[in-house]
Amino acid sequence: MLISNTLDITQPYQGYTYSYPHKSTYREFSPIKLGDIWKDEKSAFFYVHIPFCEMRCGFCNLFTVSNPKERVSKYIETMQLQMEQISEVIPDLHLKNFAIGGGTPTFLTTDELELLFKTIVDFGVAPQKFFGSIEASPKTLNLEKIALIKTYKIARLSMGIQSWIQDEMKALGRPQKIETTLKAVEDIAMSNVEEFNLDLIYGIHNQTEKSFIYSLEKTIAYQPTEIFLYPLYIRELTGLGVKNQKQNQHQFQLYIAGRDFLLNNGYVQTSMRCFRRKEAIDCRPESNYSAITDNMIGIGAGARSYTNNLHYSTDYAVKRKEIKMIINNYMSTKNFKNVNYGVALNIEEQKRRFLIKSLTDGGSLNQAIYKNTFGVIPFEEFQILNELIERNWLTEITSNIYALNQEGMCYEDVIGPALYSENSKQLMNGFEWK
Ligand SMILES: C[S@@+](CC[C@H](N)C(=O)[O-])C[C@H]1O[C@@H](n2cnc3c(N)ncnc32)[C@H](O)[C@@H]1O
Ligand code: SF4
Repeated sequence: MLISNTLDITQPYQGYTYSYPHKSTYREFSPIKLGDIWKDEKSAFFYVHIPFCEMRCGFCNLFTVSNPKERVSKYIETMQLQMEQISEVIPDLHLKNFAIGGGTPTFLTTDELELLFKTIVDFGVAPQKFFGSIEASPKTLNLEKIALIKTYKIARLSMGIQSWIQDEMKALGRPQKIETTLKAVEDIAMSNVEEFNLDLIYGIHNQTEKSFIYSLEKTIAYQPTEIFLYPLYIRELTGLGVKNQKQNQHQFQLYIAGRDFLLNNGYVQTSMRCFRRKEAIDCRPESNYSAITDNMIGIGAGARSYTNNLHYSTDYAVKRKEIKMIINNYMSTKNFKNVNYGVALNIEEQKRRFLIKSLTDGGSLNQAIYKNTFGVIPFEEFQILNELIERNWLTEITSNIYALNQEGMCYEDVIGPALYSENSKQLMNGFEWK
């Protein structure tokens, strides 16, 4: 019998907590000067958001629009302006690593991509010194763009496949032909790019263990460095959400089957979603960046920025009309030196964030750092940690450093939400989705 039993494991897919607090806790506030926000912070991860795609997938609620009529070059010019102003206000900001995400960055033409890369190099990103990453989709990728990515020494290319079965793509509301997937994956695999990652989704309507394993077999044939397995979430206002499509009842069984298949075929699990090729496990350069304690500076509409005690961004939306409005507002902004939308993190929220980032997405919980930062031992404050030990999901990997084990990783999407504060939950519930 468990002494504490607060985790509802009958619902393994409660929420993906890739950041905390969730963006639906953000609200408008009186403007704060960028210089004041960053005055005690000297380093950050650099993130660029491209909110454009060639399609809008039925499952996706990311901040992006398909085939924008707005001029994409105007968007890049605005990002240039934003970067210039950030350099003026925070001249000594030390960048630790970077990612270009979206949306779909490779939606940009080759010339636009090159302009973007030049701009971020001018801003102070030195791709050859980092292990930078860029996202792509099959239809928008071609040999020219892959060559450019390599020229700029961007180490990691990440692309969504979702499934190798045409009917499953249809059920996902993703207009992507299997031939297009095949061509893009072959091009990447032949390119010798340093690392590439492919995303798959499980829990698709009518997906079976057999069809999921088929997609995995097709995927591992190209030996991607990493494979991400995403559980399908059907979210409000998305194409599938509007259609009221039901969850696949076998999602958890599909996950176990997929996980075991990858573990038996040369991959090592590093988090609930991430599987890394065994030979690639130690090949990344040493990084001094920590997703748990480091800041992030985001560029572009929809990009978030984090400091220790404030998370901020532009406004957020899911519907096309609203997203377009936010992008247009971004492109008409002349002054990026003030911030007025986000959420402040008090000490309790900082502790919760620390724990969530330590326990999910491949993190580990370092008791000494927690104690140094907050002056207390986490196990004394958060009963859930003792429950994880009791359940035998959390293991001490070296002295005072804990990580979820294989059983614990199955439940990252239960553990993350269980650590949300009451205040955050209230804000999330009160958010008006648009
Ligand atoms: C930015 S996209 C990847 C790059 C590119 N835009 C693409 O779709 O090919 C991020 C990934 O998140 C996953 N994803 C997004 N929304 C999801 C959802 N509702 N359920 C499951 N996976 C989702 C998909 O696997 C997708 O490939
Ligand atoms: S899944 Fe990728 S391509 Fe599809 S809408 Fe989302 S970001 Fe765009």
